[in-house]
Amino acid sequence: MTTRFAGRVVVVTGAADGIGYGIAAGFLQAGALVHALDINAAGLESAQRRIGAPNERFRTQVVDVSRPEEVTRGTQQILRESPQVDVLVNNAGINMFKRLNELEPGHWDRVMDTNLKSIYMMCKAFWPGFIQQRSGVIINISSIMGQAGGVGAPAYCSSKAGIIMLSRCLAKDGAGYGIRVNSICPGYIDTPIMERQYAEQPDPVAARKQVLDKQPLGRIGTPRDIANGALFLASDEASFISGTELTIDGAVTATQID
Ligand SMILES: NC(=O)c1ccc[n+]([C@@H]2O[C@H](COP(=O)([O-])OP(=O)(O)OC[C@H]3O[C@@H](n4cnc5c(N)ncnc54)[C@H](O)[C@@H]3O)[C@@H](O)[C@H]2O)c1
Repeated sequence: MTTRFAGRVVVVTGAADGIGYGIAAGFLQAGALVHALDINAAGLESAQRRIGAPNERFRTQVVDVSRPEEVTRGTQQILRESPQVDVLVNNAGINMFKRLNELEPGHWDRVMDTNLKSIYMMCKAFWPGFIQQRSGVIINISSIMGQAGGVGAPAYCSSKAGIIMLSRCLAKDGAGYGIRVNSICPGYIDTPIMERQYAEQPDPVAARKQVLDKQPLGRIGTPRDIANGALFLASDEASFISGTELTIDGAVTATQID
């Protein structure tokens, strides 16, 4: 454990598994107190066991971040326990591969509410505190699919592009108050979301190999790769970095020409 974030309070959404768990673990190892939110109660319990941190430094709460009343309840609870929040990582998200002809309004709303509206609501809940304390770091997890687009996932890609623009706008709005806002755009990262995607293919092993073969660095990313980026963006070394995107994709989108 290091003390880089000792005394800091960090909120991570979607922290029960995958990238969110990796980010929560990263901040915890760096000394922070972490509030871990997730819709999955069993997942949070298993994260609590896996992470092996004392309960007072890893506080879990079951919250569906797509629902306004749950965001209000969850964030108020956090502020009662930790009146000063220093870092907010909006990571919770769902993927949806549906082409336009099969994409119903309910699907669209679910993706937008979970991936984008949740971020607006979480930021709004902590914004008054950030303004009052004249500091605060927000890191929103977008995707390379929000930058470059992708086949067969118009709702997902639009929600992820929206995250980039929301982050840029909030960066400008918050700059005068010492608030920094950035997005991280992960490439292919080994997490349960990807496992589910492979499992839906006729040959899951071949599907994973296809992703691996696309990787210029010869490996698929890990949650720790994204956590390292989040730790940097939240650190004082990044004090002049706001309103931008950190792409962490092992050069997958660096060029369209092989
Ligand atoms: N894995 C990748 O390759 C990849 C690439 C680019 C972007 N991302 C983004 O990174 C983020 C994390 O992805 P992951 O791969 O770790 O996915 P994951 O499915 O492994 O984990 C997502 C977590 O978010 C939680 N969650 C889902 N809906 C929620 C809700 N309404 N309220 C609260 N929690 C909720 C889930 O329970 C889960 O624990 C997502 O926003 C995803 O779009 C992932």
